[in-house]
Parts: sequence; C-alpha cells; structure tokens
Amino acid sequence: MQRIKKIVLAYSGGLDTSVILYYLKEKYQAEIITYTANLGQGKPLKGIEEKAKKTGASKVYIEDLREEFSSRYVLPALQAGALYEEKYPLATALARPLITKGMIKVAEREGAEAIAHGCSGKGNDQVRFEVTAKALNPEIIILAPVREWELRSREEEIRYAQEHNIPVKVTEKSPYSIDRNLWGISIECGVLEDPWKEPPSDVYQITTSPEKAPNEPTYIEIEFKEGIPIRLNGENYRLVDLIEKLNKVGGANGIGRIDLIENRLVGIKSREIYEAPAATILHLAHRELEKLTLDKDTLHFKELISQRYSELVYNGLWESPLRKALDAFVSQTQKVVTGIVRIKLFKGNCETVGRKSLYSLYEEKLATYTKEDIFDQKASKGFIHIWGLPLVTIAKLRKKK
Ligand code: ARG
Repeated sequence: MQRIKKIVLAYSGGLDTSVILYYLKEKYQAEIITYTANLGQGKPLKGIEEKAKKTGASKVYIEDLREEFSSRYVLPALQAGALYEEKYPLATALARPLITKGMIKVAEREGAEAIAHGCSGKGNDQVRFEVTAKALNPEIIILAPVREWELRSREEEIRYAQEHNIPVKVTEKSPYSIDRNLWGISIECGVLEDPWKEPPSDVYQITTSPEKAPNEPTYIEIEFKEGIPIRLNGENYRLVDLIEKLNKVGGANGIGRIDLIENRLVGIKSREIYEAPAATILHLAHRELEKLTLDKDTLHFKELISQRYSELVYNGLWESPLRKALDAFVSQTQKVVTGIVRIKLFKGNCETVGRKSLYSLYEEKLATYTKEDIFDQKASKGFIHIWGLPLVTIAKLRKKK
C-alpha cells in the first residue's frame, strides 16, 4: 500500500463521506483535510466544521464558490446551449470540475499527496473528479473508497458508523440519492429505478406539481447583454441571485421537471429525475434571443456545438482543449445576443411570448404580407431557377435514358 500522509476529502457531512473520513484515516494513518464547496445546495453548511472535526478531520475547508460556479461554469454552458441528450442542463456535471479544482488547490497548499471522493464505481461523477484532477495535477493520487470497501449497503455503513462512534444523522432517511446545486437537482434510486413508474410527488424538492401550480399564468421578462442574463422584470441581478430567483418563480409554476433515461459514460442507461426551473427558463430565453439575432448559418452550426459541448461536460472533459476552443467560438457568437425575452409560465409549461433586440435580424418589411412589403418577389424566379438547376439536370438525363 502507498504511504500517504495527507488526504483532501470531498466532504458533504452526510453518511457516505463521514464514514469515508474515518475509514481513510484508519487505513492510511493519514491526516484528513475535508473540503466542502457551497454551490447553492440549499442546506446550511454551519454544522459541517464541527462534524468533520468530531469525525477526525485535522483541518476543514468550506468555500463559497457560487459566484465562480455561475459565471465560469454555468454561464458558458448556458451560452453553449448545453443540454445532455437534449434535456439535462448538467447541474451535477458542471459542479464536479469546480469542486475538484478547489480540492487540488488545497492539496497543493497543504502538501497533500492525495485527494479522495465518495463516488461509486458505476457513475459519471468518479470520471469527472478523476479526469479533472489528473488534468490539473498529473501527480495527484486519487482515492475512491466506495469502489473498494466491503460496505455494501446503507445499513452496513450505518452499522460501521455506530461501531466507530462516527456522528451521523440516520433519522432523515430519504430513499433517493439527491445531488443539488443552484443550477439544478439530480434525483435517482428508490422507486425511480423502475422506468415505468411515475415519480411519486415526494421525489420533488423545489417544484410544485403542475396540477397544484397557480391557475393564473406568470409573465416574466429576462434581459440579456451579450449572452449574459442581467435583468429580470427590469431589475438588475447578479447571475447567482437571478438563478435563485428563477428557481423560486419557476418552481412555484411547476417548471423544470425532467424525467430522463440517459446514457452514462460507463455504458449503462439510468433513469434520473431533474428539477431545474431556472436552467429550463434561461435556456429557453437565451435560445429564443439567438433565433432573433444570429444569422441562419451561425445558428445552425451552433446546434452541432451545443450537442458536442454537452457531451464533453457530461463525460468529464471540462478541462479539455476542445471545450475551451468551443467556448471561444460560443463567445464570439454572443456579441449580438442582447435583448429582452418575455416568457409565460403556466402549470409546468414555459413558453416565449415575445422577444426584441437592437440586433434583431427580423425585418418586418421583408416578412410582412401587407402592402408594406419590400421583398422583391420577381427576383425569386431567377433564384429558384439556379437553386434547382442540379436537380433539373439530373431529371433531364433520366428522361434521355
Ligand atoms: N446523472 C447525473 C449526472 O451524471 C447526476 C448524477 C448524480 N445523481 C445523483 N442523484 N446523486 O450528471
């Protein structure tokens, strides 16, 4: 076994990471430094330090990364239109590389040889953690105890915790595995493992069911400046606050519930429920403004980029040169994505009902069917003649034969 003296552990304070803390300390006789990032997971991080110390941590890091998360991870993904398999806004997938970057920094500062995470061997998150860590520091040792240890169930972990006096709360037992940050919530396990079963209402954490949402629609106006959402209903917002606000308003109207059978990188299909009201609304609004302001070729080409970008993020390649190069392309396209989108939220549905921009390429005088029309209809004759010329040539040849 490798001799390791210091380990930085990604720590949430929950059962898994509490048990891991103790387990690693015993196994390696090493010093354990915990690392917890605030990414807007919606639960207080107050008790974390005390809990980690009680479980045996020598030092505790708690960092508020919400600002960086929203501006350097969520925003580029929004601008890229990144929805994995057309639906998942990638909240969990975007968070992992940032947490890992924070951990690597701490490991370097503290002289730790290793970092550790609590991901299982079946998911995408282990890949995201480890690929990112190696991309930032190829020497770092990565420990993933859950892939190796003998604890096979939650019950065994609880028993282990009790035997070793590890402080854990076993009261609030949820049948689901939930990962949450400000960009969205990922929920799996329990009854959700049967893809035929409708998710029971208790899986949802932040959205009202469409049936119980208000009977009156809510209209909102989102203003973008060069692809960045900056105002809501005429009021300025920092991106973090705007996202939190839209999660509330959207959630209350039942917006952003996603039920997805998805393809994991490790080769299996899984069923995941997502709740992402703000992401759903912002992707819709942003895309709508692009439809108004981007020329056809750029808009269509960008669809290919969106798909590729979402795959890179999902598959743990945030630190890849390709992702960075795609960001440069996307940034270039955003210079004209300035304007306002008006959206109607109603019982789980959100739709655009208006859009305007100083960069709008929509020319009413060209589009209109009234007498204001300035489109030169006679010019279409020659256009169609040349456009169809290859097909006419083929048809003539066929006839000759
Ligand atoms: N399937 C999502 C992803 O790969 C979420 C993974 C974490 N989900 C969870 N319920 N803990 O990004």
